[in-house]
Amino acid sequence: MSDKPWQDAILVTDLERGWVTRVTVGRRPVAVYDTPSGLYASLALCNHGGADLCDGYFDGHVIECPLHQGAFDVRDGKPVAAPATRPMRVLKLRVRDGMVQVRF
Ligand code: FES
Repeated sequence: MSDKPWQDAILVTDLERGWVTRVTVGRRPVAVYDTPSGLYASLALCNHGGADLCDGYFDGHVIECPLHQGAFDVRDGKPVAAPATRPMRVLKLRVRDGMVQVRF
């Protein structure tokens, strides 16, 4: 999997500070989270019912889904509140020359 290419997502300066930002990478919706310990990324659609996590509430390291209030830790994708039970898909992320890049 490590041979998948890094893809540009968004300039760091365009991120919502301390919040979640929706970006499209290729054709895939991606959520980029600005947390107290750095940037993280995941697929943007909730694995419970497909809601857009970028419309949810974000606090610290936890994104709460807007549809049923399931929640995930954005650092590792672990579900932390029902009805979310499966880990969400987190993406590898790096910053190069001010650009956030992700790898699927
Ligand atoms: S769609 Fe996200 S918790 Fe149900």
